Parts: sequence; structure tokens; C-alpha cells
Amino acid sequence: MRDCRRRRVTILRVLVTGGAGFIGANFVHWTLRHRPGVSVVVLDALTYAGNRASLASVETGIEFVHGDITDTVLLDRLVGSCDLVVHFAAESHNDNSLHDPSPFVTTNVLGTFAILEAVRRHGVRLHHISTDEVYGDLELDDPERFRESTPYNPSSPYSATKASSDLLVRAWVRSFGVTATISNCSNNYGPYQHVEKFIPRQITNLIDGIRPKLYGKGENVRDWIHVDDHNSAVWAIVDGGRPGETYMIGADGEQDNKGVVELLLELAGQPRDAYDHVSDRPGHDMRYAIDASKLRSELDWAPTYTTFRDGLAATLAWYRDNEAWWRPQKDLTERKYAELGR
Ligand code: NAD
Ligand code: TYD
Repeated sequence: MRDCRRRRVTILRVLVTGGAGFIGANFVHWTLRHRPGVSVVVLDALTYAGNRASLASVETGIEFVHGDITDTVLLDRLVGSCDLVVHFAAESHNDNSLHDPSPFVTTNVLGTFAILEAVRRHGVRLHHISTDEVYGDLELDDPERFRESTPYNPSSPYSATKASSDLLVRAWVRSFGVTATISNCSNNYGPYQHVEKFIPRQITNLIDGIRPKLYGKGENVRDWIHVDDHNSAVWAIVDGGRPGETYMIGADGEQDNKGVVELLLELAGQPRDAYDHVSDRPGHDMRYAIDASKLRSELDWAPTYTTFRDGLAATLAWYRDNEAWWRPQKDLTERKYAELGR
């Protein structure tokens, strides 16, 4: 039988790309809380989605580099000084990819190519962060869930560029012996998520007295995981994952969008039907669902947020308490949605 105990590798200095974004910033906070011996370097281009304020409370404990992952000279210097790269940087919003796919190809495909060449040159370990959306979608009644062996079948420009980046990583492992792992995670929620995304958009709408907005009938299902559980899984893979392997990350959190909005309304003390339907997203994936048994059994990982209601209530409270963080993005984001009729 294989030895399932963790073989923790010693990481002294980690380069976190996209560390001013939602999951990356939470990863930095998680790392400083749980791995005090690790020094953290953040590389982030501070696009509309990057926010230096997400790192304000840890600013003195990290090195922050404002730069682009496609800058190969900069990458060479940074990667050469680290023993691990955790690659979060990406264009991440499906709706934006339908409007203008170009930055998705540049950052997600060419940016990942640049990272791969840098870790190859320096012999540095890479963990590549990806999404379950590379597998396409499932029917509502499909008994299957996504597994590591599920064939790729991306639907949107976003998921197609993430699929491309995953395949580049796999090829660099096989062809050049790069030491890399990949994780494909389901939808995250939690603090510091941009107000363009579903849950923070509805929370901040509720705070502003605007009715939540559901695309189409609201039947689409997402498999929600708290961002801290995603990041604890990433460290479990860094510690004990087998090089070259892919791990699905998910916490058995399937919910349809209508159910999420109803729960938010209830938590906010409003009638559960006080929402509006708006026009649907073109090509809208119906359902995502993750089977994370490989991660759970091989690496002994388990989520800490097991009740979606509690995680959502904590997230609602965070947005109520941190209006100064999200307020500057809200009007512009809603103006963009208004142009799309959503
Ligand atoms: P995000 O949009 O909140 O953050 C992305 C960050 O990357 C931003 O700080 C941005 O400034 C930075 N960035 C963008 N282009 C860059 C470039 N060219 N060079 C350097 N930095 C750049 O995204 P997120 O939701 O935190 O997602 C992070 C990663 O996790 C992505 O790879 C995404 O595909 C993946 N993922 C996200 C989810 C989710 O639910 N949000 C689920 C699974 C996987
Ligand atoms: P989103 O947060 O954009 O993530 P993804 O498209 O990567 O799953 O959207 C989550 C779900 O919520 C998706 O089915 C689209 C839906 N949605 C709405 O119903 N209303 C909204 O205002 C938004 C932004 C999304």
C-alpha cells in the first residue's frame, strides 16, 4: 500500500502570482498565519481585479512587486530567488471573457507559458491554480462529478484559456521534466472577492438596497467552497502532492443560484423572493460538481467550512464591515452590467 502520510517539503520563499486578487490575497494571509517560516513575494499587475488594499494588513511582512507575468526579465529575477511558485494570476471573469477575450489569451496562456519557461530555467517547483470549468458542464441530473480523469471540454473564452494553460503545464512536466502540480477547484467565496462575481455582487446589492439579480431561471448549479479551504488544499498539495499530478479541490457544496440568493435574502432579513431575473449569460454552463476523493484520501485533506450557510453569513458580515474595500469598484461594475442588460 502507498504511504499516504504527508512528506512536507521545506519551502523557504514562495512567489505568489496574482497575490493581490481574491484567492491569491487570501493565500498570502493563510500562509502568513500558518507558515510563519515562509517568506512571501507577490507579483501582481494590479489590473482592475487586483487590489493592494487586500494586502494592507500584511504589507510589512511581504515583498510586493508590481509587474506583469509576461515580463520575462522580471520573472527570471523573481523565480530565481524562490523555491516555489504558486501561480494564481489570471483574467478570471467569464462575463468579461465574452466581451473581450484578448487579455484572457495574453495573461492565461502566454503568461503561464512565461512562468513555465522561468521555472524550467531555474529548476523551481510550480503549483498551477486552475478551475473545474476546464471540464465543461454537467446536466442537472447527471450522477457524475468532475474527476482528474474527466476529459477537457471548456465552453467560454475564460475556461478555454485556463484549459490551455493546464495543458501547457502538463506538457512542460512531460517534455522538460518541470516539477509541477495542478489543482482544479470549484467556485470560491469569502472575503476580498471582486464585486463583479455572483456572491459579492448580490451581497453588495443588498447592502445598497438593490434587488439581487439572477441570470436566466437561476437553475444553474455551482459547487461552492470557502476560499480558506481552497488555500489549505493548495498547501496540502505543495506539501505532499505527487509531482506531475492533478488534484480536484471541492467541498461538496453544490447549490443552485436561486438557492444562494434566497439564503442571502434570508440572512439579510428580507423576503426570500425579493430578487429579479435578468437576461442569461450566452453559453451559460449549467452545472459544476467536484469529486475531491483523491485529495481527501491521498493527502488527508478536509474542509473546515462544512456548512454553506455559516460561511455565507460570515462573508455577508465581512462585506458589511469592509465597505471601504469594495465601495470604489461598485458603481463602475454595475454600469458595465447595465450595458449588458444584467
Ligand atoms: P482575481 O481576478 O480576483 O485575481 C487575479 C489577480 O491576477 C489580480 O490581482 C490581477 O491583478 C492579477 N493579474 C491579472 N493579470 C495579470 C498579469 N498579466 N500579471 C500579473 N498579475 C496579473 O482572480 P481569482 O478569483 O483570485 O482567481 C485566481 C486564480 O484561481 C485564477 O487562476 C482562477 O482561474 C482560479 N480559480 C478561481 C476560482 C474562483 O471561484 N474565483 C475557482 C477556481 C479557480
Ligand atoms: P460567477 O461568480 O461569474 O462565476 P462562474 O461563472 O465562474 O461560475 O457566477 C456564478 C453563477 O452565478 C453563474 O451561474 C452565473 C450566475 N450569476 C447570476 O445569476 N447573477 C449575477 O449577477 C452574476 C454575476 C452571476
